Amino acid sequence: MADYDFDVLVIGSGPGGYVAAIRAAQLGLKTGCVESRETLGGTCLNVGCIPSKAMLHASELYNEAANGGLAKLGVKTTVELDLDTMHGQRKDAVKQLTGGIEYLFKKNKIEWIKGRAAFTSADTVQVGDRSVRAKNIVIATGSSVTPLPGVEIDQKVVVDSTGALEIAKVPEKMVVIGGGVIGLELGSVWKRLGAQVTVVEFLDQILPGFDGEVRKEANKIMKKQGLEFKLSTKVTGVTVAGDKATLTLEPAAGGAAETIEADAVLVSIGRRPNTDGLALDKAGLAVNQRGQVEIDHDFRTAVPGIWAIGDVVPGPMLAHKAEDEGIAVAENIAGLTGIVNHDVIPSVVYTAPEIAGVGLTEEVAKERGEVKVGKFPMLANSRAKTNHEPDGFVKVIADAKTDRVLGVWIIASVGGTMIAQAAQAMEFGATSEDIAYTCHAHPTHSEALKEAAMAVTGKPIHI
Ligand code: FAD
Ligand code: NAI
Repeated sequence: MADYDFDVLVIGSGPGGYVAAIRAAQLGLKTGCVESRETLGGTCLNVGCIPSKAMLHASELYNEAANGGLAKLGVKTTVELDLDTMHGQRKDAVKQLTGGIEYLFKKNKIEWIKGRAAFTSADTVQVGDRSVRAKNIVIATGSSVTPLPGVEIDQKVVVDSTGALEIAKVPEKMVVIGGGVIGLELGSVWKRLGAQVTVVEFLDQILPGFDGEVRKEANKIMKKQGLEFKLSTKVTGVTVAGDKATLTLEPAAGGAAETIEADAVLVSIGRRPNTDGLALDKAGLAVNQRGQVEIDHDFRTAVPGIWAIGDVVPGPMLAHKAEDEGIAVAENIAGLTGIVNHDVIPSVVYTAPEIAGVGLTEEVAKERGEVKVGKFPMLANSRAKTNHEPDGFVKVIADAKTDRVLGVWIIASVGGTMIAQAAQAMEFGATSEDIAYTCHAHPTHSEALKEAAMAVTGKPIHI
């Protein structure tokens, strides 16, 4: 490798980048990783998956204690919200996990080059005053919040997901713009802590991309929990005066405008790839219409020696997808065969209950051919019933001819954990009968998956 500084240089240390760096180092490649944040771990560990789950977990326990969930089980409490401590435990989780990546970098002898990387040629990047040349460069620069034109995020009254994790006082009224994953998760956090939350969604239903029946049921459950929804509605303007915001809303199809007031506004209308300042043109690369770096099946860009993974490339913007791509790209660079099955990427919304899915929605599956669908309600699952968790269902979609499982959708308290079994079954090419004849421990929520699989052929036991 004569005059190369590294065999592999990864730009970005999120779940895509740090995992790629660790796997490359494990495979004996000299590896560096450029990261401009003060801590490693990218969006996910610093301002995404981890802190949001810390707030979701703590707020759910508060909600259970404050709103009668624990009392129903015979646990009487006097409840007081200590938001500072709640934020403290969130910061602690982030500190421990980002510190953990730094430890893993040291253990694997990966050099962390601190600063922002910009290409100067196809094999060289500039970081501060250092020029770094590498045989392979992996672009893993992730994504950031999509702004809403005309709406300024001040992180005080109008916040993005990062600001919404850090709100210092429970707002009386919160408006969430966008009924996607972030809107539902962070809207739930502040609803549980006492805010009145209204979600404004442009489309006629929340959670685009999820199974239609799941979207409808999720909306019903969230409404029951007290979240308000304004569907088929767009926000055309937000003005802030002091610590109050006024939002102007219009029907998505056009019509009379209305205004609503809020103490906090969360803008969560999606995320866009990070390529600004990377000087991709100096490497001979361009982005597509959606701002993404295009890759082939092996994560190679159009320029030999440059690879890309994670949120910056097409596909779902999910940490586990980025991680799997990180492993695969390092293996491909090392001359092995790194593969990610993009047909089997689970997706989970960490509300209560959790909303999870893997594979095709019923709508898409039906467009592609004849299907059989089996459903089982959580109400009829003994463990869910015992735990007072009646909401939700499991739905298994199978090919009508081959019985091969094409998609599984779950709304259940532990749906995010249950979906792993469905993903594994699909990865192994399972039929619904394979799941139905697999012995599941009793009493577990997972038995609902077995019964939904049995329902594909019409023979569940408990309904
Ligand atoms: P990122 O994690 O975005 O990391 C990219 C890194 O590259 C960043 O640290 C950035 O500073 C650095 N970088 C960018 N450009 C440069 C440069 N030029 N030089 C040096 N460094 C650079 N996904 C899930 O699967 N589960 C969840 O529960 C979940 N929760 C989320 C909650 C929130 C609030 C948000 C915002 C996202 C959440 N996500 C979740 C999505 C998840 O965070 C992303 O899919 C994931 O982080 C993408 O990983 P990545 O490695 O591609 O990029
Ligand atoms: P999203 O794409 O999930 O949802 C955005 C929503 O905003 C959509 O429903 C869209 O129709 C709506 N919208 C767009 N423009 C609008 C407008 N002008 N007015 C009203 N509504 C509008 O994006 P979100 O929630 O910001 O999340 C970004 C990404 O982060 C997601 O792609 C997701 O993959 C990832 N993420 C994943 C999590 C998880 O896996 N649990 C948690 C949080 C984020």
